[in-house]
Amino acid sequence: MKVINTIAALRTLLEPMKVGQQKIALVPTMGALHKGHVSLISIAQQYADVVVCSIFVNPTQFTDPKDLEKYPRPLEHDMRMLKDAGCDVVFMPSVQEMYPEAESWHIDLGPAEFLLEGEFRRGHYQGVTQIVKKLFDAVLPDLAFFGQKDFQQILMIENMVAYFGLSVQLVSCPIIREDDGLAMSSRNIHLTAEDRRNALVLSRALTYVRDHFSEEEIPALLQEARAMISNTAGVELDYFTIADGRTLLPETDKDHPGLVALVAAKVGQTRLIDNMLLN
Ligand code: PAF
Repeated sequence: MKVINTIAALRTLLEPMKVGQQKIALVPTMGALHKGHVSLISIAQQYADVVVCSIFVNPTQFTDPKDLEKYPRPLEHDMRMLKDAGCDVVFMPSVQEMYPEAESWHIDLGPAEFLLEGEFRRGHYQGVTQIVKKLFDAVLPDLAFFGQKDFQQILMIENMVAYFGLSVQLVSCPIIREDDGLAMSSRNIHLTAEDRRNALVLSRALTYVRDHFSEEEIPALLQEARAMISNTAGVELDYFTIADGRTLLPETDKDHPGLVALVAAKVGQTRLIDNMLLN
């Protein structure tokens, strides 16, 4: 496994592979890797000849400086996970490498940018798409792999790719859950034992909605799911919605295609998100 810190060294390494028609996959991460990331790498290995995993805690996507400061950075653990996963190249640039000078960035990501996560974390998706564009420019991947847990993030990256007319193919990969249903996330590390128990209500509420989808109307499903979460001590609900998977606008018609249930809540001091496809 090669560990690379600069864009120039990455280009030198990847150029002959591209000339040799090898397919390059990128798995962008912010480190603090878990089985969800490993699953992205395994899926990427099925599609591509070379898998590049980036680890970069991107400052421009954090709307709260405290959140950036406390973001976990377990480097040794990450390297071990990547080696065990059979990752070919780790790209681990410095902030100076990715942002040599201050730069403003604003692109039109469409109206969904300001909904859900965009409402709670203003500017977040500008930062996400800014760094993903920089990573795409550095790696020039044929394919890039993202977890469905950040459902809105994939939509925003799709819109960025369309905005610039990039040729990279985006692949959305299934959410990986703990045995008890909790969606894997780098943020779970911050949960206390009590938070960890309380956090289960998110996947329980989503599962309730999915399991009762055929027999109950959407307003009744939402009422029950929101009540389940609001009645859990230590959990503060930001939103629970059933929405069109493209526009993210709320939907009450069950026959509407591509519906998804999305939830965000603060569990103790940690903000978690989760979602489930419904039809
Ligand atoms: O999902 C993440 O970990 C980050 O938002 C990403 C896509 C690596 C960009 O920093």
